[in-house]
Parts: sequence; C-alpha cells; structure tokens
Amino acid sequence: MYEPFAAVDVIRAKRDGRNLTPEQIDWVIDAYTRGVVSEEQMAALAMAVYLRGMDTAETARWTGAMIDSGERLALHVSRPTVDKHSTGGVGDKITLPLAPLVATCGAAVPQLSGRGLGHTGGTLDKLESIPGWRAQLSAHAIGKQLEDIGAVVCAATDTLAPADRKLYALRDVTATVESVPLIASSIMSKKIAEGAGGLVLDVKVGSGAFMASLDEARVLAKTLVDIGTAHGLPTRALLTDMSTPLGAAVGNAVEVAEAVDVLRGDGPDDVVALTLALAREMLALAGHGDVDPGPVLASGEAYETWCRMISAQGGDPEAPLPQPEHVHVVEAPESGVLTTLDARAVGLAAWRLGAGRVRKEDPVQAAAGVRCLAKPGERVEAGRPLLELHTDTPDAVPAALAVLEGGIEVSDAAPESPPWPSTTVLDTVRS
Ligand code: URA
Repeated sequence: MYEPFAAVDVIRAKRDGRNLTPEQIDWVIDAYTRGVVSEEQMAALAMAVYLRGMDTAETARWTGAMIDSGERLALHVSRPTVDKHSTGGVGDKITLPLAPLVATCGAAVPQLSGRGLGHTGGTLDKLESIPGWRAQLSAHAIGKQLEDIGAVVCAATDTLAPADRKLYALRDVTATVESVPLIASSIMSKKIAEGAGGLVLDVKVGSGAFMASLDEARVLAKTLVDIGTAHGLPTRALLTDMSTPLGAAVGNAVEVAEAVDVLRGDGPDDVVALTLALAREMLALAGHGDVDPGPVLASGEAYETWCRMISAQGGDPEAPLPQPEHVHVVEAPESGVLTTLDARAVGLAAWRLGAGRVRKEDPVQAAAGVRCLAKPGERVEAGRPLLELHTDTPDAVPAALAVLEGGIEVSDAAPESPPWPSTTVLDTVRS
C-alpha cells in the first residue's frame, strides 16, 4: 500500500514543536493501527506529544482518527441517550446508582465500562461481585436493554477505538500516560464512538485522581469539553473532589452494597449529592432538565430499575453479596479531629487487599476492600474503629497497613482552614 508520509518526519515535526497537519494525524493513527508505524516510532511520537503538547485542533483530529480506527456503536433507541464518564477515583461507585436513576427519569444511559487497573476500581469488577451478573453483551443486546430498561452497564466491545487500546498499552510502559491531549483524546474517542447524544464528565481532583490540583483538572476538563464540541457532542464536566474516598466503601461488593443503599433512599451524603449533581447535568443534556432526580431517588423507583438492569444481565439483585473471610480493624491512634483520610492511600490499601489487579489478566477478590468509618473533619476518640480492611487473604493486611502509613492523620484540634472540602462538586465546565 502507498504510504503518503514517513513516520520519522511526523515524529521530527512534533519533536521540533510544530503542529501536525490533519493528514499527518489521520495517517499516523491509521498506519499505527495497521502495524506500519512501529511500536518504537509511536513511542517516540507519544513522548514528543507529551513534551510539546497538541493544540485544540490537533487533539480533536487525533480523537477523530482514533474513532475511525474502529466502529461507532449505532444506538437505535426511542429516548434521548446520555452518558457519563469519570476520570477515575477511589470509592467511585457513582455509575451504579446513576445509570438506573437517569433511566427512571426518562433518558437512556449506555455505559460501556472498563476493569480496574492500579488503585482506582473498575465498574465491571464491582458489578461482577453480584452472583450471575455478566459484563459481555452483544451490540444487539445492548440496544434491546437500552430500549426496554433505559440503562445498560457492560464491557466495551473490541471494535470501539482499537487504536486507543494499542496506544494506551504503549503509553503505560513509556511514561506517556500523563499528557492532557493524550488522556483527553483517549477518553473521548471511546465515548464518542459509543454514540450517546450527550456526555457528562466527572473530572476528579486530588490525591486519588490523575490531576492533583484544581487548575490541572480544569485544563483537562476544558480539553475534554472542547473535543466533544468539535465532534458535535454536547459535553459538560464537573470537577469533583478526590482527596478522600467517595462514600464509605472502597472495593467491589462493598461498593455495590453502598450503591444499593443509595438506590433505596439511604447511603452516604457525598455519594447521594454527587449522584444527583451528575443526574441533573445528564437530564439537562437529554432535554429532561425539568425532571428533579431527588424525589425519584428517594421514592425507590430507581431501585426497581436497578433490579431490572441487573436481572437482564443474568444477575440476582436480591442475592447476598460475597463476604470477606477476614476483617482487620484500624483504630484511631489518638483522640482529636480526623484531618486526613487520604484517597490514594485507601485506594492502594484496597488494591493490596485484593480488590484490584496488578496485571490486566489478574483476578480480583469480590469481597476485598476497605470500609471507612469516619470522614475528615469528624471528631474521633482514641481506639475508635476508623477503617475495616476486608480480604480473603489475611497475609495481605501488613502490605495494606504499610500503604496507609501517613494517609491517616488525627490532630488535637481542627485546623483554621480545613484541608477537607466542604462540598464534593468543586466547579463546572460547559462549552
Ligand atoms: N482513561 C483513559 O481511557 N485513557 C487515558 O489516557 C487515561 C484514563
């Protein structure tokens, strides 16, 4: 096949700080997917992009080229479709109550999700702790479930943005993950290929997130929203706190149990607040801005939708969830105010306990995880239980305790300007 460019010229252009042309971008992504651009050439280009960046037009084109490397899902659904994506956080089980809630309010939510790698959990791993539930659905089954129930959470098909799958694996081993244009184009290529009519992004900020500061997260949020706009996809982003775990549960079955509490009109305040904030944005994009999701959640109707959604994928929503073989309690070291319960430390502890995986082929323990029994800002007495560590492999407890070192702080008095946020939603970015 005739190749209109040479990879070295494209790499050299970006290395020297020049913008790539639309034709160069289309070619390099396509040629990489076909195996004509080698892994080492793409590694060099990814590093050049990491160091030199890409502007809005280049990033939007790069995203388009990755979408075109595969197929777009054709959703034939009678109601408006709207999706949500989170950049990943500790205890982030929001998809679980959110999808059935938004479906109950009149929109359809296609949530094609991934498995967890590293210290943030994966939605599919959480749902797989429900006996019988299966993640793999055909495109036909996804469409049918969306039409009948209005919500589907399942594994992304291999045909969605295959260039991203290849490039993400390469970035992972070449220290080029943390590049805003590469992160944004990776996320948006999969979301745009999914074919929903609107998208709400939950961009996490803090120790447990990709972006540690609000300013960095704002840049990522704006880049994501700009890509959506360039591709005609109405997109909004909320910037939300990830300095401490969301809710009390971090892991797999424990997070499902907490999501069910929320759907039954209970559950931790921060999880309820974020679920409702995201639902409002999604409903606005779907043209149902007049529907208030608060009373719908409180009424238990969304729980009915959850049960249908789980049953449709072979799961038994009433079956008892797996319980851990071993529980280790971490107590408050002294009396005072809990000033730090660090998201990253708790996420890593849950991972060490068996809730997450090191390599993508590793199994996860359904019952492993952490339950946080206090929130930053709360007064605690010495010896009061602060965390429960759940695992089927008690040998993992010392490693979990080691990563928690420094992640929990108790002070005599509350600091004058509290380091913990007073609200989960910190800002909104709209196009
Ligand atoms: N999630 C993605 O899908 N891609 C990235 O690059 C980072 C997070």
